[in-house]
Amino acid sequence: MAFENLLTELRGEAPLKTGWITLNRPKALNALNDALMDELGAALLAWDADDTVGCIVITGSEKAFAAGADIGAMASYGFTDVYRGDYITRNWETLKKVRKPVIAAVAGYALGGGCELAMLCDFIIAADSAKFGQPEIKLGVIPGAGGTQRLPRAVGKAKAMDMVLTARMMDAAEAERGGLVSRVVPAAALQAEVQAVADIICSQSLPSLLAAKECVNRAYEGTLADGVMFERRMFHALFATADQKEGMQAFVEKRKPAFNHR
Ligand code: HXC
Repeated sequence: MAFENLLTELRGEAPLKTGWITLNRPKALNALNDALMDELGAALLAWDADDTVGCIVITGSEKAFAAGADIGAMASYGFTDVYRGDYITRNWETLKKVRKPVIAAVAGYALGGGCELAMLCDFIIAADSAKFGQPEIKLGVIPGAGGTQRLPRAVGKAKAMDMVLTARMMDAAEAERGGLVSRVVPAAALQAEVQAVADIICSQSLPSLLAAKECVNRAYEGTLADGVMFERRMFHALFATADQKEGMQAFVEKRKPAFNHR
């Protein structure tokens, strides 16, 4: 796939590959504009539909995952421009349509829309250089791609209010303590560590991965009783797959499973 604002590459040792998407506007610290977000949506959907791909990683540069929405592009917009044209936010929900696991590999700044993009991923692995923040208040606006909603769910109301109202950044250690990121790794090892995690994901059965992701997401979007029932039905449904037979038989025979993703 060839894009102007992204680099894409398949990597990995597992039978299923990992689709790496690198945000690539280095001069603007990967500021997110509509062109980049349209390309990101296209890349995500292409790999979600590709049977050779088991997992997707979104990353940036050493200095910035993304320093937010492109302020230069937004500066002259009025309400009617953004509302009628659906500018800035038009392609953000595409990520939520992706059924395969998506990991954010964050080094450096993840600010504003950059933090929101990372939070839209299934989980975040951070370099020890990572800095997260929602500094939109300093620009006379507020977060516009889920920051006021996902940050409190991730780190709790107190820290989220503090960050959204004061624009202070959270470093990687605080982000891990707060639950925003799942792991912190040395910056120099970020890509290797993330690929190792992705390889583990890519060695599982794809139907199980999709079901597991769908179930965990239910925990955020419904009641506990509905989520538990949905999980139970998905658990039951997986007994209709060949991979369930293979996975359990392999355990009994003390060998590694050879999933065929059916
Ligand atoms: C456009 C940006 C940018 C952004 C940085 N740049 N962030 N351009 N939009 N969000 C550009 C700078 O203008 C500069 O271009 C180059 O990237 C390097 O940035 P510097 O500021 O020189 O680097 P540094 O001094 O290291 O400071 C890094 C920084 C700072 C702390 C990340 O750039 C910063 O505060 N950026 C803005 C962060 C922000 O407010 N984000 C929220 C945006 S609003 P030149 O040409 O001068 O070299 C938002 C709303 C989302 O995200 C709504 C939903 C989508």
